[in-house]
Amino acid sequence: MSWGAASYSRRTHPRTRAPMMAQPSLLLLLAAAAVLLLSLCDAHNKLAKKSDDVVNGPLLTSKLGAKRTLIVGPNDEFKTIQSAIDAVPDGNSEWVVVHLRAGVYTEKVVIPETKPFIFVRGNGKGRTSISYESASPHNTESATFAVHADNVIVFGISFRNAARAGLPNNPEIRTVATMVSGDKVAFYHCAFYSPHHTLFDSVGRHYYESCYIQGNIDFIFGGGQSIFQCAEIFVKPDRRTPILGSITAQDRKEESGSSGFVFLKGKVYGVGEVYLGRANEAYSRVVFADTYLSKTVNPAGWTNYNFSGSTEHVMLGEFNCTGPGAERSQRVPWSRQLDQAEAAKFLTVDFINGKDWLPAFYY
Ligand SMILES: *[C@@H]1O[C@H](CO)[C@@H](O)[C@H](O)[C@H]1NC(C)=O
Ligand SMILES: *[C@@H]1O[C@H](CO)[C@@H](O)[C@H](O)[C@H]1NC(C)=O
Repeated sequence: MSWGAASYSRRTHPRTRAPMMAQPSLLLLLAAAAVLLLSLCDAHNKLAKKSDDVVNGPLLTSKLGAKRTLIVGPNDEFKTIQSAIDAVPDGNSEWVVVHLRAGVYTEKVVIPETKPFIFVRGNGKGRTSISYESASPHNTESATFAVHADNVIVFGISFRNAARAGLPNNPEIRTVATMVSGDKVAFYHCAFYSPHHTLFDSVGRHYYESCYIQGNIDFIFGGGQSIFQCAEIFVKPDRRTPILGSITAQDRKEESGSSGFVFLKGKVYGVGEVYLGRANEAYSRVVFADTYLSKTVNPAGWTNYNFSGSTEHVMLGEFNCTGPGAERSQRVPWSRQLDQAEAAKFLTVDFINGKDWLPAFYY
């Protein structure tokens, strides 16, 4: 089925909604259980745990105070996501929800710089997907989903670049699933899929909570200033190249730069072997903290493959990681094992001034 330039297909079965006519005692019991659960969550707020039970679409909508909603779906006012984005006025200054019904949207979506304050709300990763086949020599051009505006929040969507993989080290072929160049952009419960170069975290302060990111070579890259909270990073094998891939390639260029990628309390696993990151600028900065690292992480940990500069000032390090991939005896000598004092400034959302702009976050 096809609606104009883009198409949509329904993957999930429509749920028959039984009218709520449970007995009052059952309702009371449910209410009591909910209160108990909420207070438990509150008590454990400071612990490292998955946040699935707290952050959801309605919570974010109410935190943002959004009053206007544009609904996208085959039987709704907007048939494509881009047409809903286009309907948001230039210079928009009040939160607008662009709500995507469950299903697969086959289109390329761009949120231009002129349209800030958009909350793109899906029905959950795996239920709402945006998928497009797009390969290009330019990362930005290849992106299935691109956010150039400031103040954009995204919840519950899978992003996929469905292009057939080219050779990963071929600069002519980029297949980005999502690129982000706006400031104050957050993704909650999203998933990103591509053969390689999956997430182009280009510039600005960003927050990713409970997201799944898959790829093989340089699949989280750019000059963003970003926290990845409870990320699940899955490494796909790629046997077409003798070069071991690297999860991250961070672009911090100078000492005064505030950018860097921080991974907190997530896990890294997969098939095959990769490095956690590579030095590709003199001040590249990436920290994995409180993260489970499976044996898919090469014992050297980090690489300076194809980097001719000095590794003296790169800041590629780990703090309090666990798992077989966290063993440090064979790490490259220039990688860092941070101590508590060095790690402190990376361990909270203050690293991205998150308390000033995030509608929800975890410590
Ligand atoms: C190696 O670095 C050069 C110069 O920065 C770049 O043009 C080239 O694409 C890189 N090669 C690979 C395989 O990444
Ligand atoms: C290290 O990580 C564990 C979880 O793996 C956590 O319980 C502990 O508090 C962390 N230690 C420090 C010093 O942050």
